[in-house]
Amino acid sequence: MKALVTGASSGIGKDIAIYLSELGYDLILVSRDENRLKETARHIKTNVTIYPADLCNKETCFKLYDNFKDEDIDILVNGAGFGLFGNTWETDINKELKMIDLNITAVHILTKLFLSNMIQKNKGYILNIASSAGFLSGPVLNTYYASKNYIAKWTMGIYEELRRNKIKNVHISCLCPGPVNTNFNKVAGGSFNIKALSSEYVAKYGIDKMFKNKLVIVPGFTVRLGLFFNRFISHKLSLKIVYNIQSKKVKRNG
Ligand SMILES: NC(=O)c1ccc[n+]([C@@H]2O[C@H](COP(=O)([O-])OP(=O)(O)OC[C@H]3O[C@@H](n4cnc5c(N)ncnc54)[C@H](OP(=O)(O)O)[C@@H]3O)[C@@H](O)[C@H]2O)c1
Repeated sequence: MKALVTGASSGIGKDIAIYLSELGYDLILVSRDENRLKETARHIKTNVTIYPADLCNKETCFKLYDNFKDEDIDILVNGAGFGLFGNTWETDINKELKMIDLNITAVHILTKLFLSNMIQKNKGYILNIASSAGFLSGPVLNTYYASKNYIAKWTMGIYEELRRNKIKNVHISCLCPGPVNTNFNKVAGGSFNIKALSSEYVAKYGIDKMFKNKLVIVPGFTVRLGLFFNRFISHKLSLKIVYNIQSKKVKRNG
């Protein structure tokens, strides 16, 4: 049994890798920082390969697939991702384009390639880490929210394609957490003003639900409740609420 986890050097990806190793999976750990991947590897009890790679680069994503396509990968977790706080006209355009490369393009490439591979073998699980942001518009963290909308909606579309084509042994799920205590805020330039879940809890919850073939996985009752009520309010009210939450995060930091 083998799993490939991107974003395995930190936060949710790291804890997912550790949990999967506790379940008996060998691990391939991917992110840019080799030293931090080695740190994750120290917690892995099964066989582990580390593969330092910048997934903002398309060719690197194709190379990653080529490198591991003949290994029997049972689980792909697309965990690498980051955000950037600020008004859309003020944030650094190059950082945002990299965010789109990582949060959307890399997930798109790896999902598509490993999905075909899993369909040929007639087995496998893909867990795409989107966010509760994937169901909202997100002023002040706008491009990040939009990138997560892409992943959430795209993953759901694949789920239905698999179902309609009666491909029963290949599964896809989307993990959609609210705030989680990781390096996310440090990278994005903000701080949480609402209670965050631990990444250990989110990792375990996400993997357990993935094995139950749940499509959209939202850890934490408060976030589930918030997303539920969001269905019944106007777009404008939802935007006001999200703006208030996100702008406070930026102010706290500055
Ligand atoms: N924390 C939250 O509140 C929250 C909520 C909902 C969803 N999420 C999502 O959860 C996922 C994991 O984030 P996290 O919260 O665990 O944050 P994190 O602790 O900052 O982890 C992000 C991971 O992505 C990797 N990464 C960043 N840029 C990369 C690149 N160019 N190429 C390859 N790997 C790269 C980082 O490793 P290197 O620096 O070593 O490359 C790190 O392992 C992300 O997709 C995030 O959007 C987070």
